[in-house]
Amino acid sequence: MATASLGGVSLRRIGEVFAAERRRYVDAHPRSLQRTGRGIAGYFDGVPMHWMRDWSMPFPFVVESARGATLHDIDGNEYADFCLGDTGSMFGHSPRPVAEAIARQADQGLTYMLPTDDAIAVGPLLVERFGLPHWQIATTATDANRFALRVARAVTGRPKILVFNGCYHGTVDETFVRLVDGRAVNRPGLLGQFTDLTQLARVVEFNDVDGLRHELAHGDVACVITEPVLTNSCMVLPEPGFLDQVRRLTRATGTLLLIDETHTISTGPGGYTRTHGLEPDLFVLGKPIAGGVPASVWGFTDDVARRLHEVQARTPPGHSGMGTTLSANALALAAMRATLEHVMTADAYRHMERLAGMLANGLQATIDVRRLPWHVVRVGARVEFVCAPGPLRNGTQAEAAHAPELEQAVHLALLNRGCLIAPFHNMMLVCPATTEAQVARLQDAFAAVTDALVT
Ligand SMILES: Cc1ncc(COP(=O)(O)O)c(C=O)c1O
Repeated sequence: MATASLGGVSLRRIGEVFAAERRRYVDAHPRSLQRTGRGIAGYFDGVPMHWMRDWSMPFPFVVESARGATLHDIDGNEYADFCLGDTGSMFGHSPRPVAEAIARQADQGLTYMLPTDDAIAVGPLLVERFGLPHWQIATTATDANRFALRVARAVTGRPKILVFNGCYHGTVDETFVRLVDGRAVNRPGLLGQFTDLTQLARVVEFNDVDGLRHELAHGDVACVITEPVLTNSCMVLPEPGFLDQVRRLTRATGTLLLIDETHTISTGPGGYTRTHGLEPDLFVLGKPIAGGVPASVWGFTDDVARRLHEVQARTPPGHSGMGTTLSANALALAAMRATLEHVMTADAYRHMERLAGMLANGLQATIDVRRLPWHVVRVGARVEFVCAPGPLRNGTQAEAAHAPELEQAVHLALLNRGCLIAPFHNMMLVCPATTEAQVARLQDAFAAVTDALVT
């Protein structure tokens, strides 16, 4: 009888490895166990934010400090941090120029709904870096996407958006749709969702040009919103020519194109867009743009700006439905300016690219030697191992490639060997402060856990 397995590893062995790693974790975190083991007082379900329960460890460790690519917990453990706040700290923890800018601004007021010198400097920096002429600042990538989609609907007068199956663009309601057996449905698990979101959105598989052509032909889509690489399940790269076809078909049908670079900014200083010469109408970047201080940016073309002014001129006075009070606050703009001027540099990206290449090659070699049916995929500084054969073509394949129990065991084993990787996918980010020694540590840890799994 065939043994049940996941990613080429028997479930029995995965269970044994995970149990051993849990014991090791508990032994190494006595103080954290005391503080978080029974939940933190005052919080629903014991954590200030539910993500904190979604890691592989039995209880979260308490962070004492983090600097560059290194994180310490209150139990005296040190980690090479390849999670980096799930990209929020893609350029390292508290980069010196950002920390100094925050300290400077801290004494000058934090938010007042008026521009500062930093705000005046940031506008032209965004134009120069990302190549679009008009920008707005928001606080999260979710907000930036919501506002950009609102603009897309306003200027096209069309009701729907189009997403690729398996996408994630933050908690933007109308993007929470999925394809099941070729049919669009609300994404499972949504709480309090009374609307049929498929009334607002069309869904197509990534890399499916014919599907996209068919859905856009309805003429009711305001905007295609996509990442250039599907990053939020297992990573899916665009097939050659796919993004060109997306641009061609959107233009041909009067549909706007929104590129969300929140993860793919790992590609280069101007994101995947600049490295690969994409031509979006709307552009969104959140998370690391202010070095870890909450902030996001969204930009658009002259054509969108002109049409937006026309719509505004016809719209009665009232609330636009866009904006949050703390958006574009002085602290965020100080941190953003420092990040753009001194942290997201070409030199920093050269380092990130080189070490990410080393990491990817090392992991793939380990997988090959152990003959595991896994693969490694990379976009710039963002590396991912997938516990299934590749390359993956679309969101359906990406979802099927997940091996939750196996991934949990691997994550915890890496953590117990001093390497932190992202909890929801097998993402590893290299930042400007990451060292070759840290990459080697992760490769050794990966070799150790894969050895344990195939034993
Ligand atoms: C591609 C993409 N866009 C937007 C978001 C939302 O970012 P935030 O949670 O900061 O709003 C995410 C979050 O992971 C993302 O991956």
